[in-house]
Amino acid sequence: MIKGKISPSMMCADFTELKQTLEVFERCGVEYLHLDIMDGHFVPNITLGESLIRQIRKITEIPFDYHLMITDPEMKIDWFDLREGDLMSVHYESTPHVQRAIGKIKDKGVKAGLALNPATPLNVLDYLACDIDFLLLMTVNPGFAGQKVVSQTLEKIRDARNYLDGNGNANVMIEVDGCVSYPNAKIMRENGADIFVGGTSSIFAPSTDLEQGLEALRAVIK
Ligand code: DX5
Ligand code: ZN
Repeated sequence: MIKGKISPSMMCADFTELKQTLEVFERCGVEYLHLDIMDGHFVPNITLGESLIRQIRKITEIPFDYHLMITDPEMKIDWFDLREGDLMSVHYESTPHVQRAIGKIKDKGVKAGLALNPATPLNVLDYLACDIDFLLLMTVNPGFAGQKVVSQTLEKIRDARNYLDGNGNANVMIEVDGCVSYPNAKIMRENGADIFVGGTSSIFAPSTDLEQGLEALRAVIK
């Protein structure tokens, strides 16, 4: 099992303190910045825009973990400044051309991920697992921070790990996104998760010291 990695959900960050936040992330060795991109159509919310993301890129070297919650993502991949070491995931549910979208991401030289909503079954991977570098399992319904975990997704992580290992895709990492609290993160790790999106239920919880929150999360995912 690879070392657990932290990808803080930037939609939960306090942008009035962005530079200080990024300094803490760099000091604590955070592996990615999770960027939730929402179009108000695939999900009923709008969050980080492409220009804001470019500004973040100017002030940090931390790789980006783009989570596209937009329709027709295969048409919009060129909108983003992708760099080596980045991750980009697209939702199976967001386009009839998901295999094409995955291919376009890989053509950019970054790791391509398939994101699945809680209710989407794992058999959608049957003819796609061979193309992806990671699987992003939504453990809440996408669109908003601060939601409760969809409890059956905790077992889905274990089922996904068994599915991938069982058909020659043990190299595919599993990312979990949504209500990754400290107790949930422990279960998610035991069930096979590799990358953890830290949001309002852990590192960005109100009145939590960011560095202490990162240490607490790191302790349960190592
Ligand atoms: C929801 C986003 C998540 C969310 C995580 O659609 O993908 O990244 O911000 O935040 P919490 O931990 O509050 O669920
Ligand atoms: Zn996300």
